[in-house]
Amino acid sequence: MTDILVVGSGAREHALGWKLGMSPKVGKVFHAPGNGGTANNVNIGVDEIEKLAKFATEQKCLTVVGPEVPLAAGIVNFFTSKGLEIFGPTKEAAQLESSKVWSKNFMKRNGIPTARFEVFDDREEAKKYAESVGYPLVVKADGLAAGKGVIVCDDLEGAVVAIDKIMNEKNFGNAGSKIILEERIDGIEASYIAISDGETAYPMATSQDHKRILDGDKGPNTGGMGAYSPTPVISNEMAEVIQKNVIEKTIGAMKREGMQFKGFIYAGIMIKNDRPYVLEFNARMGDPECQPIMVRMESDLIDYITACIRGTLSSLPKISWSAKSAVCVVLAAKGYPESFPKDEEVLGLDVMQKESIVFHAGTRKVDGRILTSGGRVFGVTATGRTLQEAISNAYARAEKITWPSKYCRSDIGQKGLSYT
Ligand SMILES: Nc1ncnc2c1ncn2[C@@H]1O[C@H](COP(=O)(O)OP(=O)(O)O)[C@@H](O)[C@H]1O
Ligand SMILES: [Mg+2]
Repeated sequence: MTDILVVGSGAREHALGWKLGMSPKVGKVFHAPGNGGTANNVNIGVDEIEKLAKFATEQKCLTVVGPEVPLAAGIVNFFTSKGLEIFGPTKEAAQLESSKVWSKNFMKRNGIPTARFEVFDDREEAKKYAESVGYPLVVKADGLAAGKGVIVCDDLEGAVVAIDKIMNEKNFGNAGSKIILEERIDGIEASYIAISDGETAYPMATSQDHKRILDGDKGPNTGGMGAYSPTPVISNEMAEVIQKNVIEKTIGAMKREGMQFKGFIYAGIMIKNDRPYVLEFNARMGDPECQPIMVRMESDLIDYITACIRGTLSSLPKISWSAKSAVCVVLAAKGYPESFPKDEEVLGLDVMQKESIVFHAGTRKVDGRILTSGGRVFGVTATGRTLQEAISNAYARAEKITWPSKYCRSDIGQKGLSYT
């Protein structure tokens, strides 16, 4: 029996802990710091790496890391140096996500399909370049910026404003000192996630996120407002192309460059004219995507995690998936992704609905009551024989959960229904 420490406090970590906890091979699942819905919470922050290592040592845990910040800070390097078992990429390998400049250059030198781009550290030169190109641009800050470092521009004027905004932005420290100007690709976006031991990569189920705050993909970007799996946007043929030309190429090149990538690797993909382009890599699971993927996963996750840590993934069969569809509807606090109220009491969590589960995110438990504590509060996740049925089950459950400033999109999954 293995005890597990899940690092993180979102719905992604709740879903990972829930899935791991169902394994007959897993004992106790601890969450650091966890949330109002997770059991066995340990009051240690995701950036308190030494304290986390001390806990994992004392409890003899295998550690699974959810979010990017501790990965970029080197949690895997530190745990490994202490002889602890931990699942995720090293700090060096996590550069695939933590530096967009590094990542774009990596893709370029290894022939991984991505949008044309240039890197600047001088805003006047960036503006001159923006004036000189004849196509619409996306302006991206280099470093981790919690989803706020990318501005998709409609015209030259917008690009100039975006360059100033990112280079002036003090909110993300040095993240904006270098910027990328990248060609805007107008296609269909989807998520392709795989699990790797540094040599071999097995696909997770396909999924599609809904990144904007408002229905119809309007309004600002968020950490994700809902997702569903599988997505028809990635056909079987397209999945094979992405697996080969993006995932396997990346895993192979990372190894050649001396930084084996172990963990979940997430490619944000834009599909245009039947060709995939990598918008970015994440060195971890997507938060909304993780939930429908976990509820559809039939294989035992701990087997795959253990094999990745030990470098024996190729000895396992491919992961098996339920034929059902799954949908996650994010319930947020109105005002997210800007400012929003907190400490509102949530009701209706005990009203059941078939085939559904509620993963907690920004919640805390006080005297048996659940209070809101973050922008994204729950991921209501449901399955169904069809995507439509999964959507209906998820919204039926979501409706019963109430608090004063509750907000959710009403069209999660519709992109999958309308896609032909
Ligand atoms: N080259 C591009 N063309 C069109 N849209 C883009 C492009 N790059 C990014 N985007 C849009 O911006 C969003 C955020 O960009 P991304 O690179 O994923 O940054 P992050 O997730 O770190 O904020 C993407 O999900 C996509 O919708
Ligand atoms: Mg992204």
